[in-house]
Amino acid sequence: MEEQARKGLIEKAERTHRLSPEELAALLADAEAEEELAAAADRVRHAFVGDEVHLRGLIEFSSYCRQNCLYCGLRRDNGKAQRYRLSPEEIVALAAKAKAYGYFTAVMQSGEDPWFTAERLAAIVREVKKLGLAVTLSVGERTKEEYRVLREAGADRFLLRIETTDKDIYEALDPGMSHENRFRCLADLKDLGYEVGTGCLIGLPGQTVETLARDILFFQEIDADMVGVGPLVPNEDTPLGGEQPGDMHLTRRVVAATRLLLPEANIPATTAMETLKPNAREWILRSGANVVMPNVTEGEARQKYALYPGKACVADTPEHCRVCMEGRIRALGRTVGQGAGGRRRVL
Ligand code: 5AD
Ligand code: SF4
Ligand code: FES
Repeated sequence: MEEQARKGLIEKAERTHRLSPEELAALLADAEAEEELAAAADRVRHAFVGDEVHLRGLIEFSSYCRQNCLYCGLRRDNGKAQRYRLSPEEIVALAAKAKAYGYFTAVMQSGEDPWFTAERLAAIVREVKKLGLAVTLSVGERTKEEYRVLREAGADRFLLRIETTDKDIYEALDPGMSHENRFRCLADLKDLGYEVGTGCLIGLPGQTVETLARDILFFQEIDADMVGVGPLVPNEDTPLGGEQPGDMHLTRRVVAATRLLLPEANIPATTAMETLKPNAREWILRSGANVVMPNVTEGEARQKYALYPGKACVADTPEHCRVCMEGRIRALGRTVGQGAGGRRRVL
């Protein structure tokens, strides 16, 4: 793209928070736009969500999954996956530790594990809510009734990435899952009053800047409260093991463009990004992101929850990561969020 055109588009996005699919795709395709895009996203981040970086304590409570996503180490056909399931008491104890570390949100994540029925999960959510934490669930596709039971138990937020808005790519990579049901889940979650997080993977086979542009416009269309974007990290125990890792620069441009179009959203600097590039979390926090999700899972479970290999911080303790992250945030001239850090409407 010509320099004038590029500057014009970035200015327009920063001022109006709107771009056409073609304009977005052109920016995503343009490696030379990256620094300006990131700088604009950093300004929008500062103006709309401020300098606080919200930390969410991530509890990975079960590595069982009934799904078979081609990229993911927890897929049911991966015989090498090490399966574990924390007990409800262990999960609540980890949430209590998250609280003690000074986190204000517990994110409870697992594969799609049918052992955790809505009722069992609801009982855990009620206990965690008693600690005074905001609760985010990331447990995959459920019926609206199940989502309702969990919401009524006190769950505040829910993460469910669309992964890609391209139906053909989605259904090829997530066999047995339908794109319609994924959209249905997101609509039900919104309808039930959850803060809804979604997002996509960068580097899926067949993906183009056009599909990524549509992903970002989809996040905007559903008014996503949170958007997690991370690169594919190939896992050799999965069918996508031979793929190239997702491009970290393209990932950064997608994060920055997402901030420009969804100025109020909570956007994490993902662990997948840190896995590909040391200190990537800082890099992404300076390119539009305002959230980090340090892992509070302990012991063997921490190693066993292996979506992809080489996951950043697997060998570190939760205490260490807490102190480490705070130092890294301060070094950026930012502060650790002192509150639940939910979506705040400004516009
Ligand atoms: N690399 C990067 N991210 C992955 N996820 C699953 N497998 C991988 C992988 N190999 C992401 C998916 C899912 C989230 C919990 O983890 O986007 O939604
Ligand atoms: Fe299961 Fe989620 Fe992994 Fe798919 S991405 S196999 S649903 S844990
Ligand atoms: Fe885990 Fe720094 S955040 S070691």
